[in-house]
Amino acid sequence: MKRNILFVDDDSNVLQGLRRMLRPMRESWDMHFATSGQEALELMARVKMDAVVSDMRMPGMDGPELLRHVMREHPDAIRFALSGYSDQELVGRSIAPTHQYITKPCNQQMLVEALEQAMAARDLVPNKAVLDKIARIEHLPVLPRIYNRITSELAKGDPSPKLVGDIVAQDVGLSANILKLVNSAYFGLTRHISTPQQAVIVLGVNVIRSLILSLHVFQSFEPTGRTSFSLPLLWGHCMRTASIARTVAQAEGLAREQADHAYIAALLHDVGKLLLDAHCADECLRVYEKVRQDNRRVAEVESELLGLTHAQVGAYLLGLWGLPSAVVHAVARHHAKDPEPGLLSTAEIVYFANVLDHDIIVFNQHYARPAPEPARLEAVGGVEKYEAWTRAILAMGLTAEE
Ligand SMILES: [Fe+2]
Ligand SMILES: [Fe+2]
Repeated sequence: MKRNILFVDDDSNVLQGLRRMLRPMRESWDMHFATSGQEALELMARVKMDAVVSDMRMPGMDGPELLRHVMREHPDAIRFALSGYSDQELVGRSIAPTHQYITKPCNQQMLVEALEQAMAARDLVPNKAVLDKIARIEHLPVLPRIYNRITSELAKGDPSPKLVGDIVAQDVGLSANILKLVNSAYFGLTRHISTPQQAVIVLGVNVIRSLILSLHVFQSFEPTGRTSFSLPLLWGHCMRTASIARTVAQAEGLAREQADHAYIAALLHDVGKLLLDAHCADECLRVYEKVRQDNRRVAEVESELLGLTHAQVGAYLLGLWGLPSAVVHAVARHHAKDPEPGLLSTAEIVYFANVLDHDIIVFNQHYARPAPEPARLEAVGGVEKYEAWTRAILAMGLTAEE
């Protein structure tokens, strides 16, 4: 089925440019164009749009105001903002209703990929009622500005680690947090890292970027006061799972890109728990009560009581943010029972990293310790492989008290 996508800009030359640039997509997209917020809303009353891409600065109803209307009246439409460098103030105002910012001028590939991926992310949440609820969340965390800056550096080609380090160094608080993490036992580095620039050189741009992202998500999460799990424990679990994923990827001799994807996905694999807890607190309390009472698995009880899992919700958020599809996919599948056919994938590594952390470093006696699903274990090489990974992880010396 064709996707309906609406582009809004008061400058008809910009719309013409988009129309021309996106011509190759006309087999799979029905593209609509509007020159004002009002016209956009009228169009949306007639045609159900999958996504809206709006300019920020427009006379009359501006971008933030339009996207806010879209959020209220058509919550399941993906909302993108096209913004120029001079739009900082408007960007600040539109934070809540915007899923992703695309910097102008943008190239075709980047825009198409970001839109396709965000629309695919929406398909990950099967329960329409819960999707509506999540889609309406006003405080869905947005990508930190510094993350966007690094991403646009990456889009220009191969950025110098020094440049990325300089961007991080401009934020003193963030730099301190990054250096603390990088020098912690999670990384097991033999020498002390003293500047963000060094951290980028040693660990790579992608790892640093994902650390910024997860620090941001965890920091912007406001516990409801009735929070169903411990935030520091979850943070420790995510950091360890990421380190384990990297160790497993290295032990299997995977390429740098795949190892990075495994690291990022493992670091963010449980972000859905934060979202669910912040926005469905009562339901979550019931889930965790049942988990403790019946000694069952969280994802299983979530499916039963909420109609979806934190894995699906987390993948949805990461997809909206435009993280690589291997990362989104791995997060979505981190509690699935069946393996994927083919070579050892990022999803399998993340799955096993999570199981291994629960298995080796037991951090909550109330939860059932997961044994790996037989089908997934079989697919990666059976018990022997699992034991080899266990030995490699024990050698890392990780403990629950990082
Ligand atoms: Fe999980
Ligand atoms: Fe987990």
